[in-house]
Amino acid sequence: MKREDIAPPYSAVTQHEIFPKPQHDEIARFNFLANFNRFMATALGPANKRAYDSRVLPKFIQEMGRKPENRFEIRHAMNDDPWHQFWSALKRNSMEMRQQNGRALVLRQIERLKDAASSYNDPNSANSSHLELDENITIPRYQSAVDIHCMPGSYHGEEVEGDISAGANYDCGIFATTAGGIGALSDGGGQALVEWIRKERPGWAPRRILDVGVTVGHNIVPLALAFPETEIIAIDVAAPVLRYGHARARALGADNIRFVQANAEDLSRWDDGYFDWVQTTMFLHETSGSALPRIINEGYRVLANGGLMFHLEQPAYTDAMPLYEQFIRDWDAFNNNEPFWSSMHSLDLNKVMTEAGFAPENLFEAHVKAVVDREIFPATADEGETEDHGRAAAWHAFGAWK
Ligand SMILES: C[S@@+](CC[C@H](N)C(=O)[O-])C[C@H]1O[C@@H](n2cnc3c(N)ncnc32)[C@H](O)[C@@H]1O
Repeated sequence: MKREDIAPPYSAVTQHEIFPKPQHDEIARFNFLANFNRFMATALGPANKRAYDSRVLPKFIQEMGRKPENRFEIRHAMNDDPWHQFWSALKRNSMEMRQQNGRALVLRQIERLKDAASSYNDPNSANSSHLELDENITIPRYQSAVDIHCMPGSYHGEEVEGDISAGANYDCGIFATTAGGIGALSDGGGQALVEWIRKERPGWAPRRILDVGVTVGHNIVPLALAFPETEIIAIDVAAPVLRYGHARARALGADNIRFVQANAEDLSRWDDGYFDWVQTTMFLHETSGSALPRIINEGYRVLANGGLMFHLEQPAYTDAMPLYEQFIRDWDAFNNNEPFWSSMHSLDLNKVMTEAGFAPENLFEAHVKAVVDREIFPATADEGETEDHGRAAAWHAFGAWK
């Protein structure tokens, strides 16, 4: 096994003030899961391709007289293969174990965590950041119909009044899911955004940024710290992640983010042109075919002329991407409760952007890769990414200037 195949230890995670405190066995489980995920990606995963090439594809050709025409045909054929069934069952179980470990850890200290978060979320505080909840919000069906990536209760489920457990669970377990690939604060995407904009528009300081689908703020906090004078509004439909996210941001010294409970499909509380930058990070694939265009349309409306809309997403399935790779990347859609994942990859996102109003010549794609946390990774750790389903490596980064 190569050194970079070993995940960093859970002790590398930054335990900020409202981070749930893990005990010995919980740490051991996360260490196991991080390395199990690495092992599945680097050692076991490639055998899926061998099973495909040596057994599944020849059988398909023999039966059908042709090669598979799309990723769905490959999935149906692979679902009968014993190795793929074995690998798939392990991977699903790893997702479930990650959620169970995180939830057990959080729920046993829920009162302490709630108190810690409340001290930062006090509405009477003189601080310029705020938490604004809306108890009348309707959670969209695409969020409530399934437990997204096996999180019991999705992002919005509440166990107790004023709950923060969904946020705390998300925060403490993501390191294991990504095997540390996005850093000690799981903010490699946000750091990459800061690097990207500094190169793209040196000296630009946006007045206002809207972050859509913020969850606990992993990727907006680096922007808030990089642009302390910028007013940032971060929205989400789910109260537990907002309560946790606001407290987490403040515990990390970011005081310029308003965490607002709102549905991105309706941004009518903000005027046309209010923001200089509308950002989504790993968000669009968790919406729906009808919601996504509405969200882009609203984002366009609230964006000022000359402003930036930018999306960091899972890698797109281009025509150049082999069908086998499309199939393996689709695993999450069918086995990890990510119902929109596969269909989003079939959408022409450039068309959605131009239909919202962006000029075709103002659309762009960028190369954005997670900033590797050198504190926890040896210098070569960002090389040799293989089958990681795009979680921690290069993203589909695209957007437009208005
Ligand atoms: C995968 S997470 C996004 C991760 C986050 N942007 C980050 O950088 O870590 C998706 C989030 O979008 C939120 N969400 C889903 N649909 C939404 C909508 N229509 N409006 C606002 N938030 C939504 C969910 O509650 C969830 O917290």
